[in-house]
Amino acid sequence: MLNFKELSGQQLNEIIDKGIEIKNNPEKYEKELSGKSSALIFQKTSTRTRVAFEVAMTQLGGHALYIDWRTTNFGIATVEDETRYLSRNVDCIMARLLRNADLVKMAASSRVPVINGCDEKYHPSQAVADLMIMKEKKGRLKGTRLVYIGIHNNVCNSLVEGCTKTGVKLTTVTPLHNEPSRDEELLEAARKTGLWETTSDVKAAVRDADFVYTDTWVDMEFFTDPKFAVEKEKRVKLMMPFQVNDELLKGSSAYVMHDMPIHRGYEITGDVVEGSKSIIYEQAENRLHAAKTILLKLLEKY
Ligand code: CP
Repeated sequence: MLNFKELSGQQLNEIIDKGIEIKNNPEKYEKELSGKSSALIFQKTSTRTRVAFEVAMTQLGGHALYIDWRTTNFGIATVEDETRYLSRNVDCIMARLLRNADLVKMAASSRVPVINGCDEKYHPSQAVADLMIMKEKKGRLKGTRLVYIGIHNNVCNSLVEGCTKTGVKLTTVTPLHNEPSRDEELLEAARKTGLWETTSDVKAAVRDADFVYTDTWVDMEFFTDPKFAVEKEKRVKLMMPFQVNDELLKGSSAYVMHDMPIHRGYEITGDVVEGSKSIIYEQAENRLHAAKTILLKLLEKY
């Protein structure tokens, strides 16, 4: 699962529904991955993705190996050779890599399923968790309205794919497209569904939304990078009018979502994070249940 391109809407809906079922009946799945191992390999930092997949493997009766890329020999050999070895020892690989191109090489060289744990283009396991919480809150996905406000990035791409495959009406308010994340094929497929629109009128977009979603303005690998400081400053200036705050949400009954980590005072205010419409922590909890449904699907348990 490098993105959702190989999944039909029906298959994605099945993954989401199964995730909700697993969340409500965790004991039924305690032994599903008994004797199975999953490698979790990280070239970038993570809190949620690491914890979710590691705990998911434990709660499914299997074993997860956390692997910090820098402590391996991936850096001094080819991705293909190292993956060929790795996939002879584990049943699944979850990888958070800097470059999608390396993930594609990894998937092509692997004998076992490879899950994208967030590269510069996509973040599919996040979108599964997001769609799960939306379905839990509204009882359906088809026809619900999500507004994404922020930079068009990897998270946005996976939302565009995930929403348009499951019938969610998505409006994106993205004054800037993070160029490394650009995928015209994905965007064109989404356009054809008629379910995705873009606008710069953030106030109008929010008015009838069921969910308002925002994300960081700077990707994790650049957040504290001094070489990115000028670009970061530029983005803050450009994006501040698009901050999710009480003023923007006045009159709206939308639930508020954020994939975390949160940068309070930038893309969202602390008041909104703590507000009564925030479902951010429930959304983040769903990363665990989403990891389980993805692992079980790819290991052919349903
Ligand atoms: N949302 C998300 O992927 O969180 P982490 O970067 O902490 O894994």
